[in-house]
Amino acid sequence: MPSIGKDIAHDSAVTHVTGESVFLDDMPPLAGELLAGIVPFPLAHGKLKRLDLSAARALPGVAAILTADDVPGHNLFGPAVKDELLLVEDEAVFLGQPVAIIGAENADALYQARKLAAIEVEPLPPVFTIDQAIAEAQFFGNPRNMSRGDTDAAFATAENVIDGILEIGGQEHFYLESQIAIAIPGEQGQMTIHSSTQHPSEVQMMVAEVLGVPFNHVVCICKRMGGGFGGKETQAAQPAMMAALLAARTRRPVRFVYSKDDDMRFTGKRHPFKAVYRAGFNKDGIITAIDVKLYSNGGCSTDLSFAVLERSMLHLDNAYYLPNVRIEGRVCRTNLPSNTAFRGFGGPQGISVIENVIEEIAAVLKIDPLNVRQANSYGIESRNVTHYGQRLTNNVLPALFQTLREECNYDARKREIDRFNSKSETHLRGMALSAVKFGISFTRRTMNQANALVNVYQDGSVIVSTGATEMGQGVFTRIKQVVADELGILITSVITAPTSTDKNNNTSPTAASAGTDLNGAAAADACRKIRQRLATVAAAILARPAEGLTAESDHIRFADGLVFDERSPERFIAFGDVVCQAYEQRVSLGERGFYITPGVDFNRETGKGSPFLYYTNGVACSEVLIDRFTGEMSVTRVDLIMDVGKPLNPGIDRGQTIGGFVQGMGWVTGEELVYGEKGQLLSNSPTTYKIPNISDIPPVLNVRFLENLDSKVSLYRSKAVGEPPLVLGISVWLAVKDALRSLGTDAAGRLSIPATGERILACMVGDYGERRRVEFLARYLLDGK
Ligand code: MTE
Ligand code: HPA
Ligand code: MOS
Repeated sequence: MPSIGKDIAHDSAVTHVTGESVFLDDMPPLAGELLAGIVPFPLAHGKLKRLDLSAARALPGVAAILTADDVPGHNLFGPAVKDELLLVEDEAVFLGQPVAIIGAENADALYQARKLAAIEVEPLPPVFTIDQAIAEAQFFGNPRNMSRGDTDAAFATAENVIDGILEIGGQEHFYLESQIAIAIPGEQGQMTIHSSTQHPSEVQMMVAEVLGVPFNHVVCICKRMGGGFGGKETQAAQPAMMAALLAARTRRPVRFVYSKDDDMRFTGKRHPFKAVYRAGFNKDGIITAIDVKLYSNGGCSTDLSFAVLERSMLHLDNAYYLPNVRIEGRVCRTNLPSNTAFRGFGGPQGISVIENVIEEIAAVLKIDPLNVRQANSYGIESRNVTHYGQRLTNNVLPALFQTLREECNYDARKREIDRFNSKSETHLRGMALSAVKFGISFTRRTMNQANALVNVYQDGSVIVSTGATEMGQGVFTRIKQVVADELGILITSVITAPTSTDKNNNTSPTAASAGTDLNGAAAADACRKIRQRLATVAAAILARPAEGLTAESDHIRFADGLVFDERSPERFIAFGDVVCQAYEQRVSLGERGFYITPGVDFNRETGKGSPFLYYTNGVACSEVLIDRFTGEMSVTRVDLIMDVGKPLNPGIDRGQTIGGFVQGMGWVTGEELVYGEKGQLLSNSPTTYKIPNISDIPPVLNVRFLENLDSKVSLYRSKAVGEPPLVLGISVWLAVKDALRSLGTDAAGRLSIPATGERILACMVGDYGERRRVEFLARYLLDGK
């Protein structure tokens, strides 16, 4: 029985629950292991005037303290642009930037040493917000542009024009396992790094560069992460580099782990954005022109900011055909920890802009936003080319909109909500149905490659290793399914090895939702080569020349752990027996597979091309209930349909869909990053930063997959699912906006992302909303009704 398409349980389903799964900090300390920590720079921007570490160094239990002067290789690094100093030299650019790294025998010595580090600084003026950065012209690089058509001419003839600004907040990754690395020094300058990373190859290279050794001297291993969500695509490197520096100096194993609060304070987040837009549209709400300036808050260094900005510009259309469009994007330089990848990678920010514009258009025309969405939807035969020139094939968006509209009873519920809002003095309800069209592939062509190593053992059991890292998303389970089916064996015969750079070299990060597409395809390639050789061996065994059955490997089939000739299927051999024979005959039982995504290409200069192999689509309709007195909001019902092609593993895909949706819902509702005037994160712990919890899950949550067998391009007709559903969380924000619009004030127009209870309340307070509240309270208190 093939395992593809089945609900095979997650690789770690049992071991996560029993506690058997090992996360890095569960690894018992090695003999002589040191604990590492940093001396953080105390200001968001300043000069380092004096650093006296003598008292800290003299403390018993302190093995070593290193500064920028002790870095044998490069202190300057960065995944795209080398503009990040690991350890402060003269000037620090964010609060918490490491000034020194301490290696101590235990946590107590580490804590005491941190306190004894005498550090004198001179403040420099900091920049924190996008507005400040714009005012002071603090940008990274040049503006990025994308356009199509004649936007100015289209505005000149537009029937209606609106202007607006949308402020979009960032998001803390809130992975349960903090950034962590363990460095183990080896012989002759070699180093083994255990890292909680989405990108072992980058950790390998960054560690080698900071140590000043060739790449082959460093091996990076990642068994699993306790969540990554993009936060460990580049920023797992710093803890690894710091642990490695201490390990190289002391010749002892070193463990570096951030506490939850320090991780929240000192590492990057989803980029906050600000969008300034102008949209032209006709009386039916069809968008004829749009001009958008996008600003992202990049933090103190480039990191992945340009790739994130680019993806936001490539997703600004979302599900809608924009004939005349002009987008300019800029990355702001601020004195915050460098912002980084986060599930959706800029896509959600770009998409929220167009979805907001659609709501505003509907408000002006006083028509249902869903009608505006459907009127602007990409078409099937026409209106099907994106603003960057990629043609949509197999476009399911029109069908998705209409199907969900009917399935969730949209129109009747909408009328009911209108009636409710006109009567209720205590609550407001709102509902919105929005879509996602998410481009699958790394926007940088080079990254769309993967290799895999498959080893078959003499009993027929198999180990597969790829560059894919397991962060909870189930990529290991999916890759096991691929290997099992390609070799026609049971999934219980396959194990996924911990990701390790000595088995798979030059790997891409597990990101862009492409982990299975890329690494699964590479594993399948390796399996096919092995199968070919085994077929030759099996053909010779199964041949019965006297009966006319010649040895022809083309007719050999592999299924259910058995190998047979399709012309005579009643006779078969066990897979393990074929393997033994192959071994006897000195036939290779290991193979390396390789895959590149075909066709993808995008020209950054012209902003044109087809960067994506395909799109993953979905729609969701969310309904919310708001307390008019407190602003408290709850999501009462969600209906969601995803098009993930032919799901590789419906159970895991469902988990990803719900998890992604809820994470997106958190971003646009309760999760708010609040900073103090020194740029210190005030919402820096689980008590002050509110991610959705179990009671925030909508009581009605209908999730299903669209049966889409037409998606032919990807692995077994499946589609990537990791990030796209997050975008559908935006429908919750749109539903809040819808509720506020029923007040008939300008409240809805003032709503920003996230719509926290506090902000919803602030929007409602205003002439009409406030008067209604006061009247109600007066009646309630004076008349008792
Ligand atoms: N799911 C879990 N449980 N934990 C995670 O950290 N990361 C998301 C998504 N789903 C994540 C997750 C992100 S940001 C991406 S890009 C994809 O998983 C990466 O994995 P994939 O390519 O195998 O889908
Ligand atoms: N998505 C996610 N991560 C990335 C990308 C991308 O397109 N490019 C570089 N890192
Ligand atoms: Mo995901 S943001 O591409 O790691």
